[in-house]
Amino acid sequence: MVNLVVGCDGFGDDVLAAALRAIEAAGFSVAVSDRSDEHVLAWLDDEFAGAWSSEAYAGSSYVARKGDAIAGFATFDPRGMRFDWLRGLGAQADVGIFGPFGVAKAFRKSGIGPHLLTAALCGVAARGYKRALIPAVGEEKLIEYYQRNSGAVIGYRAGVQRCRCAGTAARGGRGREGALGGVGSRG
Ligand SMILES: CC(C)(COP(=O)(O)OP(=O)(O)OC[C@H]1O[C@@H](n2cnc3c(N)ncnc32)[C@H](O)[C@@H]1OP(=O)(O)O)[C@@H](O)C(=O)NCCC(=O)NCCS
Repeated sequence: MVNLVVGCDGFGDDVLAAALRAIEAAGFSVAVSDRSDEHVLAWLDDEFAGAWSSEAYAGSSYVARKGDAIAGFATFDPRGMRFDWLRGLGAQADVGIFGPFGVAKAFRKSGIGPHLLTAALCGVAARGYKRALIPAVGEEKLIEYYQRNSGAVIGYRAGVQRCRCAGTAARGGRGREGALGGVGSRG
């Protein structure tokens, strides 16, 4: 399990605008919301079978849609969570949190994933953080994905913790108290 870190310098307004344009050019609409609505939270529970709706509710999210269908999301700056991977680096004042992040199976490889990732990192930067933490990534391919698409580097590895993996997360569902009230770890 690794925590990845990326500097916020490269994620300004122009980069955000380009990412949003690219999502739209791929045929999707995209919008940011401070707290995802019930429809998005229910979609998160269904699509990723985990506790991610709790985190989305605790933060802001870019959400891409194809018509009425939700295609993907990237959350940033969730507040008030107590995951154990938020200790250390994640607790530093200049570090903002990225994620969770996912694209619905039907829309993977459509090209929106890296742009949603970029948009949410721009969201972290816009909140005034100097660095973004991409926490609890378990799979090597996913680590490479983040490195390739954001320039993130490995902050540290922690072999014993459980990863932030869709589908294997404890089913927290829309129990927002799960994120706000002290979930210990995820994975
Ligand atoms: C990660 C994700 C958002 C990327 O979506 P995308 O930009 O459309 O990209 P793809 O799904 O086509 O994957 C691109 C590459 O990322 C890597 N990758 C993506 N998801 C992966 C996973 N769950 N495990 C391992 N590698 C993964 C692979 O290298 C893949 O390339 P490949 O298909 O040639 O093997 C999407 O795969 C997803 O929603 N996965 C499930 C949720 C998740 O794991 N989110 C990250 C939590 S840290």
